[in-house]
Amino acid sequence: MSNKKTILCIGAGYVGGPTMAMIAKKCPDYKVIVADINPQRIAEWNSDDLPIFEPGLDEVVKAARGKNLFFTTDVTSSIKEAYIIFVSVNTPTKMFGHGRGKASNLQYWEKTARSILTYSEDDKIVVEKSTLPVRAADAMGKILHSNTKGLRFEVLSNPEFLAEGTAISDLEKPDRVLIGGMETPSGKAAVQALVDVYAHWVSKENIITTNLWSSELSKLVANAMLAQRVSSINSISAFCEKTHANITEVSRAIRSDSRIGSKFLNASVGFGGSCFKKDILNLVYLCEHYNLPEVAEYWEQVVKMNDYQQNRFVMRVLENMFNTVADKKIAIFGFAFKADTGDTRESPAIYVSKMLHEEKARLAIYDPKAMKEAKHDLADLDQSLIEYCNCPYEAAKDAHAILILTEWKEFKSYDYAKILGLMTKPAFIFDGRNILDHEALFEMGFNVFPIGKTPLSHLT
Ligand code: UDX
Ligand code: ADP
Repeated sequence: MSNKKTILCIGAGYVGGPTMAMIAKKCPDYKVIVADINPQRIAEWNSDDLPIFEPGLDEVVKAARGKNLFFTTDVTSSIKEAYIIFVSVNTPTKMFGHGRGKASNLQYWEKTARSILTYSEDDKIVVEKSTLPVRAADAMGKILHSNTKGLRFEVLSNPEFLAEGTAISDLEKPDRVLIGGMETPSGKAAVQALVDVYAHWVSKENIITTNLWSSELSKLVANAMLAQRVSSINSISAFCEKTHANITEVSRAIRSDSRIGSKFLNASVGFGGSCFKKDILNLVYLCEHYNLPEVAEYWEQVVKMNDYQQNRFVMRVLENMFNTVADKKIAIFGFAFKADTGDTRESPAIYVSKMLHEEKARLAIYDPKAMKEAKHDLADLDQSLIEYCNCPYEAAKDAHAILILTEWKEFKSYDYAKILGLMTKPAFIFDGRNILDHEALFEMGFNVFPIGKTPLSHLT
């Protein structure tokens, strides 16, 4: 028999791990189990060296692990034991067949649904936590209700809005928790059971309940709108580079309008991460499916602008380095898709590195947290042209240029006079995140190329 106060999460990834650790910490009256088919991942969650880097995560896990938080590979008996089951397995973009390149690959998700069906011995609440296409809960419901055991499953959607690097504070003080469910008496009871969990630490006003489809769609729309802001400001950065406008000044001027707001208006080499591109393409696919080509095209442009921005960045490097980087050492500072994470999924650094590799540049990569991931991402390139460095100074030694691709704070505090001394001259810095003190670097002797600003070059 399952226990009403046992929660299971299937999938111990970036979303499942931190979210369940927070629930366990805030709800000592619940037992929380996190199960994954990957034994190495589970071993890491049970060790001192957690599989993901996230500020504050270690403390939260250590406080609850072994008390009411458990990591296991035993999916089967966990399913039997839990009453509330979160599904947080990976749903990457499908790379084959119909919908290839846009739709979600639901194979892991469907397998999970089938396992729940096979091993359940009594009624359960199943909560979608992975990003899924709108109406996926419907499919989940259909699979679960195909059972002949007479069991009742209530499917809820509870999308995750945490951002990597700030996952713990996002979980601790969420802007909102969104829970979607069926508008039937049993659906409403299931929603209430999940509200009761979050109400341990989130105020009632910040727990939004909706119908199932609104909840699923809201997740895609939230990410599409955030990505749209980044693409919008990046499109204007291209404009600034052609004129004497300065993107930082433009951004500051518009963000002070309270109707526009201050967040997600930093121009960059492009957005990355596991969600933005995937979720927008998912939205595009759904729009096409529902025969809304204009709507599909509108959102697809956000992704196209992001591809353009990354490509433009590499072209700027090439053009300013005398149209060739062949056999030149290029130091890459930052490989993660953003600061404070070791995650490199969809990181602009992958695209930039691959393009420079095609130009036969020698790459020297340094990232404070993502070296293992960088090696994995670039494994299919000619390794004799790539150095994975232990420190920024090693990467900069004899390099012709430094490319800043992640906004790690520590990049600001390096000894750039020392770095300049180590580099081949003329020395270039292409700041893909606009985080360095460009004037000071120029004064030192660097040729500095920020995003969306007039270059500071000694060569013109
Ligand atoms: C995102 C959403 O923010 C989160 O709510 C959702 O649950 C998952 O997807 P995440 O992928 O962790 O979170 O990263 P986010 O902080 O949104 O940044 C995405 C990308 O945009 C990063 O590459 C970041 O560097 C870039 N970005 C962000 C910019 O280039 N400029 C900005 O102003 C903000
Ligand atoms: P996210 O960023 O959405 O959390 P991750 O890829 O980090 O995605 O994590 C998804 C996890 O789900 C992986 O650790 C993977 O091993 C796990 N997983 C995938 N399929 C199953 C399954 N059928 N049963 C249990 N775990 C699964």
